[in-house]
Amino acid sequence: MSLSPAEDYRRLKAAVAGEALPVAVVDLDAVDANVARLVAPVRAANKHLRIASKSVRCVALLKHIMGLDDVFRGVMGFKVDEAAHLVAAGFDDVFVAYPSMAERDAETLASLAPRVSIAVDDAEHVARHGRAGAAAGVEIPLVIDVDMSLRWLGDRVHLGVRRSPIADVDAVRALAANIRDTPGVKLHGVMGYEAQIAGMTDASPYSRLLNLPKRGIKQLSRGPVARLRRDIAEALRADGHAITIFNGGGSGSVHWATAEDALTEVTAGSGFLDSHLFDYYRALELRPAVFFGVQAVRRPAPGIVTCHGGGYVASGEAGRDRLPRPYLPAGLELFDLEGAGEVQTPLSVPAGVEVALGDPIFFRHAKAGELAEHFAEYVFVRGDRIVERAPTYRGEGRTFL
Ligand SMILES: Cc1ncc(COP(=O)(O)O)c(C=O)c1O
Repeated sequence: MSLSPAEDYRRLKAAVAGEALPVAVVDLDAVDANVARLVAPVRAANKHLRIASKSVRCVALLKHIMGLDDVFRGVMGFKVDEAAHLVAAGFDDVFVAYPSMAERDAETLASLAPRVSIAVDDAEHVARHGRAGAAAGVEIPLVIDVDMSLRWLGDRVHLGVRRSPIADVDAVRALAANIRDTPGVKLHGVMGYEAQIAGMTDASPYSRLLNLPKRGIKQLSRGPVARLRRDIAEALRADGHAITIFNGGGSGSVHWATAEDALTEVTAGSGFLDSHLFDYYRALELRPAVFFGVQAVRRPAPGIVTCHGGGYVASGEAGRDRLPRPYLPAGLELFDLEGAGEVQTPLSVPAGVEVALGDPIFFRHAKAGELAEHFAEYVFVRGDRIVERAPTYRGEGRTFL
């Protein structure tokens, strides 16, 4: 059942009546719909779905999402101490997708083996974990992170993220051999995250001229990404390595990545909550599922209300698309000269929209997980009622990154 924006505002306002503002709201009906949409292609392809915890950062919400379908298999975490926190909360398969050289992280991984694996892309990473694993008499599971960027002219044109130096089959084979020869570690899998497809908007109202070139980059990347993942899987098999996971994809590429035989699983996180950057992908129909509500407190001039707070700006390439977007009541807009303020955020109010002082104004954050760093608690709503409240990582007193 789809509501008009006015009805949607009325029900969200009713849900948070009596709550202290600002309040962070998760709409469970929308989450459930997004999960169903993202799970469908994964199930059809007979693969698993790993949930990206960085895009959720709330244990109860991770559990809610993973409990909805048995296609879910494990968490993609972002920090070793976070993985330890998740294991303590009952998760038994966490892949930390970003490397660490900290000795205490290696020791923690050794104490958690085999439940937590970690990404590596350098012999130094392997050696660090090998020492800790051997000292503890265990094997820390390692996942080789492969760069899936599009590279031209040597590497002078590099379209993708700058993370791993491992960019071809030979480099993967060499690191896999190094892991095999190192006591205290074992090869658990491979990750090839195609950021320039999964993480790049291509229908953005903020940079219209770039949308077409970005679509071109996505299109051009698909063949090379699929071939490299296939060749890596074949080469590792030929070298006698048996990997448990081959991970790829993100919310922006689930539909496409699931078609690849080489991958055993795909990752998604942001898409379950549909933060507003995910509006700017073609062919990705999701429902906004996370909001924050701030209080309208002032009327500096006709047609303007000023809210208390709102300045939760997202990471990444700085630009207007990183600002939160006013969501409901519909039609409110930020002012270019002020943006979303640390304590005061003015908004233009279109004719015909009434905002009373004290009303909540709902915004969407640009990114799904970062909102949780600003709130101790998420309130989960269904329809016009709060059905549950749950601490975010921050609310548990943990800020991992
Ligand atoms: C390694 C990796 N995989 C997958 C993703 C996709 O996550 P999401 O679905 O939340 O966009 C990301 C996001 O940055 C990532 O870094």
